Amino acid sequence: MTNLNPITPQLIDACRRKLNYLRVSITDRCNLRCIYCVPRDRIPKLAHDDILRYEEILRIVRTGVRLGITKVRVTGGEPLVRKGVFDFLSELTRMEGIEDVSLTTNGMTLATHMDQIVVAGINRINVSLDSLEREKFAAITGRDGFDRVWAGIEKAMEKGLSPIKINVVAMAGVNDNELIDMARLTIDRPLHVRFIEFMPMGTSGMDVGCQMLTPEIQAALSPLGHLEPVENGRIDGPARRFRLPGAAGEIGFISAISHHFCSTCNRLRLTANGQLRPCLMSDVQVDLKGPLRSGATDADIENLFFEAIAKKPSEHHLSRRGPAQVSQQMCAIGG
Ligand code: GTP
Ligand code: 5AD
Ligand code: SF4
Repeated sequence: MTNLNPITPQLIDACRRKLNYLRVSITDRCNLRCIYCVPRDRIPKLAHDDILRYEEILRIVRTGVRLGITKVRVTGGEPLVRKGVFDFLSELTRMEGIEDVSLTTNGMTLATHMDQIVVAGINRINVSLDSLEREKFAAITGRDGFDRVWAGIEKAMEKGLSPIKINVVAMAGVNDNELIDMARLTIDRPLHVRFIEFMPMGTSGMDVGCQMLTPEIQAALSPLGHLEPVENGRIDGPARRFRLPGAAGEIGFISAISHHFCSTCNRLRLTANGQLRPCLMSDVQVDLKGPLRSGATDADIENLFFEAIAKKPSEHHLSRRGPAQVSQQMCAIGG
């Protein structure tokens, strides 16, 4: 760990990556069971007491902010199923030092909760949506929820949330015949549709044979013609961004396998049960919950942040169709 300024230590790791983005999973529960995310074998849900209380999460975030965290994403499971989430979001958006708070949701209750989301100060969201066909949506997620999710996306556009990012995990034989339609959504809507490579994690029910890498996804989109590259912004995530000529929205590719972005990774993750994970693709984690509940001082928590970044791998070694190298399910880490 290298500190640029010894007076205010910042989270900079041995690869000189500045960690300024904390992704916080507030629950492992979800109201959908997506094939690429949920385990084949039922894993027990966390007990109530194993999950960090909101006050505990806020204390951890405040510590992170002192060390240079400026961007927070709230994830799950499905974050909107946890009671009290809107007050929690308000606390985050009002926290001094945080420049950006966003939410990754499956959209099932987005339309119902849109006003509370806006009042909480959230102005951008990421929504998972892998199919525009009702029946296929149900086959992928286990619930007939397409209309609800789409209503949520429309409401978010109506309220002017921006950007609204739509996450599409591309799956051969499942939704590959719809990729063009999904990309076309961006022509007259201000949506950012991002095509994501499936990452084998834990024991998801999805056959890795369905995995599509970005070059295959791009080939499927080739009838749309040339995609214009878009400059990446300051608080951008891992997506490589493009635009159809004249389109209102954007198309992105998140290529964690074929073109990993580890050398510019600025992320740390806090799991619902209070573990700080320096890398999505590694089981290495540092326990914060135990120390927090046995009287850790703020300085102790700061040290645990530094312990986590000292353990951040320089890159992951996940390969195409290789076995999952992470035992935890995506739903437990929050993506
Ligand atoms: P923003 O750019 O801030 O909107 O976030 P994002 O695109 O990272 O967030 P989102 O939660 O929508 O995640 C989109 C996809 O990127 C998911 O499939 C994530 O699992 C994947 N992803 C996000 N962060 C990482 C990461 O650090 N490493 C890898 N390998 N994949 C990631
Ligand atoms: N591989 C790639 N993306 C995944 N997501 C969930 N599981 C996986 C996986 N195994 C995506 C979801 C969600 C985002 C947070 O992560 O589509 O939008
Ligand atoms: Fe960062 Fe790990 Fe994801 Fe690479 S795999 S981008 S190091 S979280």
